[in-house]
Amino acid sequence: MTPDGLVLVHLSDLHFGAFADLAQIEALETFIPTLGAAATVISGDLSQRARHGEFQAAHAFVNRIRPHTPLLIVPGNHDVQWWLSPLGLLGEGPKYTKYSRYFKELTPVLEIPGAIIAGAISSFGLAFGSLTWNPNDISVKGHLPRSETDRVGKIFAQAPPDVARVLVFHHNVLPGGVSRRMGLARWRSAHRRLLATGADVVLCGHDHQEGAGQIGGALAVSTSGTHSERIRQGRPSVFNLVKIDSRAVHIQHFRWERSNRSFLRSDTASFARRGPPRVTVSVAGGEQPL
Ligand SMILES: [Fe+2]
Ligand SMILES: [Fe+2]
Repeated sequence: MTPDGLVLVHLSDLHFGAFADLAQIEALETFIPTLGAAATVISGDLSQRARHGEFQAAHAFVNRIRPHTPLLIVPGNHDVQWWLSPLGLLGEGPKYTKYSRYFKELTPVLEIPGAIIAGAISSFGLAFGSLTWNPNDISVKGHLPRSETDRVGKIFAQAPPDVARVLVFHHNVLPGGVSRRMGLARWRSAHRRLLATGADVVLCGHDHQEGAGQIGGALAVSTSGTHSERIRQGRPSVFNLVKIDSRAVHIQHFRWERSNRSFLRSDTASFARRGPPRVTVSVAGGEQPL
């Protein structure tokens, strides 16, 4: 990682289909190449109804970004044809066949200089692990199985100690600012297991409102907004730029300005990275590592 850190573009919830905002999509295509990012992450909900035309439009967008940065993409709840195998009764495969035709892996891993980025799956549609007592949650809510956090924890454990560890899935792990809702069912268990993966930052979406926060005061979370018309309370769309340096994770919001059809730099939140303890003894000449 360079002294100046590593920059990731974090998009989510593009929702190609009836509600996509094409002015924003076109602006992203020209803006992203100017941001100096080492990679672009899309944390799910590329489509509205998992239709071929929606996936094809998303695929064309991805192909316009790819010459400028590598990409990592995970599916959202809208990208899963859960009705082909409700409750997984006919297996997990049929739900993801169409998504995989366009975007291949469900849990991709991307290694770039200075970082390892691991995708995990939280989108299962109607599934036992995602069920809650709220009927509105059916097929919308997600869950993060222990098998997923264990798998990612092993990947991170095998990575060189000095690279940043970035974990990506769809459903928001912190409550939405307006909705006050969690995307994940059984989120307390998920929080404990996420802390144990060794991740430096979690990238998620689903709430359609941007957010920056921490799990347990220790693990940074970037929640990116939506580029569809399905925004919360008329708020502007926002995507995030995630910068990781040796000491901190910085999450900067970029706000869509409809009047001049461009994204403007907005607030930044910074969170200290977990890492080896520093400075127990103060001596002349500055910090002394343990
Ligand atoms: Fe969404
Ligand atoms: Fe979603």
